[in-house]
Amino acid sequence: MADEDWSAVDAYIGGKLLHDDPTLAAALAENRAAGLPGIDVSPLQGKFLHVLARAIGARRILEIGTLGGYSTIWLARALPQGGRIVTLEFAPAHAEVARKNLEAAGVAEKVDLRVGAALDLLPVLQTEGQSFDFVFIDADKENNAPYLEWALKLARVGATVIVDNVVRKGAIVDPANERSDVQGTRRFFDVAAGQKRWVATALQTVGAKGWDGFAIGIVEETTP
Ligand code: SAH
Ligand code: DHB
Ligand code: MG
Repeated sequence: MADEDWSAVDAYIGGKLLHDDPTLAAALAENRAAGLPGIDVSPLQGKFLHVLARAIGARRILEIGTLGGYSTIWLARALPQGGRIVTLEFAPAHAEVARKNLEAAGVAEKVDLRVGAALDLLPVLQTEGQSFDFVFIDADKENNAPYLEWALKLARVGATVIVDNVVRKGAIVDPANERSDVQGTRRFFDVAAGQKRWVATALQTVGAKGWDGFAIGIVEETTP
């Protein structure tokens, strides 16, 4: 019942604040037609990421977990002229769908889509000397702790790091729940708790994607 109410409210707000967007709708349709799981951010969440990236004036964005590129399109559209988003995806089949969607959305030239395990690709970004203003972590929740540590290495001081799916229908506080994603989320919070370089909070969310949440924080200067 609650889930239906949350979806109805998302539909109401979406009707007010989201404009008809055939490009984004087509990307979601392509994702479903290709059999990708329906775990893209919701439209209102996608716009939230877009608003946030613009508010920050992000020019260099890192996304971990592309799926079909739905969130990537929202973020790429937030970039100014000359801005760039690097997005990392493990599954070649997902990346292939994403490439088509990004091309169709007219943002492909702003997107550097790399295929592989993020924990293999992140050190490459470091070797290349890449630095980011905004990092969106949304891949395998099992690795959210190391992804946060990598984000802090790759982000400039003052950058924003935001992490999707940190509440998991409240499963994180259920001691009987030993699912790997839930345990990964708890390890993520343990790392965040001991991490002085990330001034962070987390907000629970409800909506079309059920009950979940985002963690968000700012990267601080290393203090001696
Ligand atoms: N950000 C997307 C949704 C991402 S879903 C959106 O909102 O539109 C999570 C994605 O992470 C999936 O496509 C999955 O294949 C990918 N993934 C899983 N494990 C990964 C890994 N080790 N490295 C990189 N990507 C991974
Ligand atoms: C799920 C949702 C997500 O947003 C995601 O990134 C991964 C998995 C899920 O509901 O299973
Ligand atoms: Mg997610």
